[in-house]
Amino acid sequence: MEKMTRREAIVQGGRLLSGSVVLALPQGVLSACSASKPDPTTVAQIRKNVQKASLDGIRLTIVYDNYRFNEELQADWGFSCLVEGLDRTLLFDTGRYHDAFVSNLFKLGIDPKSIDELVLSHDHPDHVGGALKFLEFNSSVTVSLVRSFPSGFKKSMQESGADVAEIEQATTISRNVVSTGEMKDIVRNEHSLVLVTDQGGIVLTGCAHPGIVEIVERSVALTGQEILLVAGGFHLMSDYGSSIRNIALKLRDLGVRHVAPTHCSGGEARQIFSAVFGERFLNGGVGRVITAGDFI
Ligand SMILES: [Fe+2]
Ligand SMILES: [Fe+2]
Repeated sequence: MEKMTRREAIVQGGRLLSGSVVLALPQGVLSACSASKPDPTTVAQIRKNVQKASLDGIRLTIVYDNYRFNEELQADWGFSCLVEGLDRTLLFDTGRYHDAFVSNLFKLGIDPKSIDELVLSHDHPDHVGGALKFLEFNSSVTVSLVRSFPSGFKKSMQESGADVAEIEQATTISRNVVSTGEMKDIVRNEHSLVLVTDQGGIVLTGCAHPGIVEIVERSVALTGQEILLVAGGFHLMSDYGSSIRNIALKLRDLGVRHVAPTHCSGGEARQIFSAVFGERFLNGGVGRVITAGDFI
């Protein structure tokens, strides 16, 4: 008899809705509810509005991560990434502890006032922990978050002086950046970003709770672009190796050229993705900077 995958075991065990178990579920179990395709009107609107940025100027800096790339920075559970070189400078997520977040930000020489947009992927503390502190340094930003964030959190952003943009449908959030829209998931609804460049799309994920494959499929459907890079949390910590390998192969089949799985991707997933993508695997971790020169 064929070995049952961990996700099949959980589904067949009927524990899917047991609250204490949900957080440990592998991402793919939960992704079916987010797999709906974007409607053609939304796709047409996005493709009409979006403009390709030059890849040459793009720079991603991982400000917060539980993997360490730069020894001088604090590594802690969570994720945050600065995106420069687009029409607007974006900060995507803010890590868990504001002191570690701010310390890393300044050690990396990042001026908070240089940031135009704060994008929060989903309402988990390891992604929004530094948000309020950030607004103390720069409240002249738009905070783009999914509509399901608690109203109290949205209010606190507004009371700090920021504009809040609630994301529901997929949309452009700047000339070069597309949000996948709010993808539903039992753990947390989440949106991811596609940075649209002249060499392909760069998909940036927080935890990928709705499923990394589903996020990439949606990114391709929205932009029509080949995916140059998928970076961020892939949330494969609880998946079996065979399942992770299938996901890595699926991403490769979808045309993903490079991957940088970090944060909640899991050590085993990083090894498997490294084996599947070879030189096109980019090591993540706090302090990692990714530029055009990293792509083959
Ligand atoms: Fe996370
Ligand atoms: Fe999360």
